[in-house]
Amino acid sequence: MLVLDFGGQYSQLIARRVREARVYSELVSHRLTAEEIRARRPLALLLSGGPASVYAEGAPQADAAIFDLGVPTLGICYGMQLMARELGGAVESNEVSEFGKADVALEPSGALFRDLQADQVVWMSHRDSVTAPPPGARVTASSETTPIAAFEDPDRSLYAVQFHPEVVHTPQGQRMLESFLYEVAGAPPSWTPAAVIEEQVELIRAQVGLEKVICGLSGGVDSAVAALLVHKAVGDQLTCVFVDHGLLRENEAEQVVETFGSHFHVPLVHVDARERFLSRLQGVDDPEEKRAIVGEEFIRVFEEEARTLGDVRFLVQGTLYSDVIESGGDVGVAAKIKSHHNVGGLPADMRMELVEPLRSLFKDEVRRVGEQLGLPERMVWRHPFPGPGLAIRIIGDVTEERLSILRHADAILLEEIRRADLYRELWQCFAVLPAIRSVGVQGDERTYAYPVVIRAVTSEDAMTADWARLPHELLDTIASRIVNEVPGVNRVALDLSSKPPATIEWE
Ligand code: XMP
Repeated sequence: MLVLDFGGQYSQLIARRVREARVYSELVSHRLTAEEIRARRPLALLLSGGPASVYAEGAPQADAAIFDLGVPTLGICYGMQLMARELGGAVESNEVSEFGKADVALEPSGALFRDLQADQVVWMSHRDSVTAPPPGARVTASSETTPIAAFEDPDRSLYAVQFHPEVVHTPQGQRMLESFLYEVAGAPPSWTPAAVIEEQVELIRAQVGLEKVICGLSGGVDSAVAALLVHKAVGDQLTCVFVDHGLLRENEAEQVVETFGSHFHVPLVHVDARERFLSRLQGVDDPEEKRAIVGEEFIRVFEEEARTLGDVRFLVQGTLYSDVIESGGDVGVAAKIKSHHNVGGLPADMRMELVEPLRSLFKDEVRRVGEQLGLPERMVWRHPFPGPGLAIRIIGDVTEERLSILRHADAILLEEIRRADLYRELWQCFAVLPAIRSVGVQGDERTYAYPVVIRAVTSEDAMTADWARLPHELLDTIASRIVNEVPGVNRVALDLSSKPPATIEWE
């Protein structure tokens, strides 16, 4: 399915919901012509919502010929209004916008509403409304404020809804999308993790041939899944390089070596570069300088290793579909390579061709593919972890001693969070080591030691975040364990800031 993007805030979400129904979908520009769309041979089209009024100057338009392609088409919100206007219906501006939950009465004979109860709650977010459906179409849903909340013209295979079936506030929305996909468009639910693996393995083989491939592992899920896919495709032509910069959490380096080396038998070069990084970070307390040093040094080490492998033609990169979309890349625009956000990024002067097996996948799909490939649960569901690692969670000077304090406290925190079964509910949860000390008393001794800050947040995408309401009892357990078990710490504090105005990381 092609989702034509008219700039709505939910466009990406629509593409994801369609994929959750196991139908492959791509988000494309609304500027695609009918001919270009026909050439891609979609089984269905979906016109997304958008912020504009269809009558506004510069409002995004669609090539009107798309409605004559004979491809089943569903318009949502703006997409519905566009369809109505193009096909001879009417759209008018309301006095006030309708935003939020609304009760609608569905026509159970409507193709999208099969087997649903007539009374449904849906999510509305619009100012304009369709006031007359296109000739030949019939109205299939209405609400008090929006008498034409859906219409359909089965003869032309055109369907439209004013509300948003893709958001969770429309409880039966996914069912409606599935009816459209399966019943109307005849699109089979065949896009599964197994199918993705099979397809990618073939593509990788075709791209790489008999050449050598290199992949940097970070311990995160993206590079891990990308590496496993490539290994499945070309076996030992792949060498993974894991640069241990010493800024990882407890046991993380061991886990990577164990998983890739021992379990999956992927040829793995484990570079112990801990001293190198630490000596370059000595005395540096500016966060951006820390980032720059870690990034630079990483590339240097990676390059050195790559050179020892001889003539390597290909580099694996864990670029995701969201990166492709963000770089405006739906129609042949090259993917922007994540730089500072991706240790394992492409060294600037290395001339290697990229292998990007995750380029068409959203993060949750990468996880499902990882599960299918047998990647351990811990790696599949690991919270995001910054490339510069603990260096930006230690405020001020990064020393061996302070790294060891933070690692220990962080391990206790995560162990208790997992024990309480809260790990998967949090976006990120970690310990921070500030550069201050305070007075405490332990036994009969006065102490002057570091505090540890607990940072736990919920978030959808890291753009905004809220501090997690962890149970008091759990916080108590974590705090007492940390002060009792970690030498050098005599106080635990909880970070109660949301983002904005704070950021998730402290540096
Ligand atoms: P902030 O702190 O900006 O973080 O709210 C947003 C998300 O980005 C991660 N982050 C980084 N990831 N290199 C990375 O690879 C970095 O330098 C970096 N800084 C922040 C952070 O963990 C959060 O998920």
